[in-house]
Amino acid sequence: MKLHINLKKITDNSYDIIIGTKLSSVAGEIAKWNDVSKYFIITDSNVRRLYGNKFLKALQSHNVEAFIISVPAGEKSKTRKTKDQLENKLLKLNADRSSLIIALGGGVIGDLAGFVAATLLRGIPFIQIPTTLLSQVDSSIGGKVAVDHPLGKNLIGAFYQPKKVYIDVDTLKTLPVKEFRNGMAEIIKYSAILDNKLFSFLENNQSRITIHSASRQRRASPQAGGGQASLIHLIYRCCELKKMIVEKDERETGLRRILNFGHTIGHAIESLSYYKLSHGEAVAIGMVAEAKISAALGLLKQSEVVRLNNLLQLYKLPTDIPSRMDRNKIVQLTYHDKKAQQGKVQYTLLNKIGKAIVGVTVPKNIVKRVLSE
Ligand SMILES: NC(=O)c1ccc[n+]([C@@H]2O[C@H](COP(=O)([O-])OP(=O)(O)OC[C@H]3O[C@@H](n4cnc5c(N)ncnc54)[C@H](O)[C@@H]3O)[C@@H](O)[C@H]2O)c1
Ligand SMILES: [Zn+2]
Repeated sequence: MKLHINLKKITDNSYDIIIGTKLSSVAGEIAKWNDVSKYFIITDSNVRRLYGNKFLKALQSHNVEAFIISVPAGEKSKTRKTKDQLENKLLKLNADRSSLIIALGGGVIGDLAGFVAATLLRGIPFIQIPTTLLSQVDSSIGGKVAVDHPLGKNLIGAFYQPKKVYIDVDTLKTLPVKEFRNGMAEIIKYSAILDNKLFSFLENNQSRITIHSASRQRRASPQAGGGQASLIHLIYRCCELKKMIVEKDERETGLRRILNFGHTIGHAIESLSYYKLSHGEAVAIGMVAEAKISAALGLLKQSEVVRLNNLLQLYKLPTDIPSRMDRNKIVQLTYHDKKAQQGKVQYTLLNKIGKAIVGVTVPKNIVKRVLSE
């Protein structure tokens, strides 16, 4: 005897990303949503101080029931323990199925609060308000939510889409330069794998794009010389590129692996540096190494490797593997990458600037040779 449970269905996970909105107007907009019982802002200690408390007041001024919960800033909060603590607080505050979680912060908060939303009461709605460059162009789009495990990053998580993403570029004015560069590494990655025109735009507009961070260091005035417009253009284009990939491959079965360019070697270098190198810095070094591998396989012209190297340096990102780092260990670690399958490391390589190929298995000796050059 057999019973078949037919759950074949089409679910609509569509949502909008609003770019160029002002944080101050978001509160008024979401306070009007009539199917929300309570609002829970989840944020980190830095973002709470900078934007969170004000955002809470703005929501409360619209006579809705709103709360704020913050966790210490940094990757160390992306754990099951923090998730547990957040769940306890939310349940004590009587969160229900029509409560709305607002993830206000960088990628750590988006991943953590999104995962809390995915499992609380079997899933409650959430929105993203990303406040770092990296989260605005990358982590807030695509629905991957997760926490880390001592055995590796993002090992426990889900695919869970937000109801909406609001991007306020002005929040970047307070971002530390190091975090700004982190985001730039992923932006350069998008251009290298998908968009030759964007790559040229980055080559030709560095002074405007850098003015954003430089002006913040010199004086607290807003950007000059079209910096804001360039930045909005950049963010818009990256969101568009990520949207295109996610729409074609929501659950990372194929095309989405294209985003892994620079990350196979990059992750290994990041962990071998004991996280002294930031993710963006490690990925920058990883992109150059993987471009060199592409060239060694005859896929990419040497002159394109030089172009990529120069662009990363233009944005003050490192491009060389630290001299004392053990090359053999880097290679070994690539085989432990979460994305390695059946003992095979599959690289995303470049064919030319703006075009990538996924799933290339590279002979170990070639990787070793390139890393030792
Ligand atoms: N889900 C995905 O698809 C995806 C993709 C890429 C990365 N990620 C995850 O994203 C995380 C990294 O995100 P991140 O780089 O945004 O780090 P983060 O969230 O830790 O933010 C970096 C730092 O900037 C501070 N900050 C945030 N916004 C600020 C602002 N406007 N002004 C001043 N300071 C601000 C934070 O408090 C923090 O100290 C990692 O955990 C990574 O795994 C997820
Ligand atoms: Zn990355």
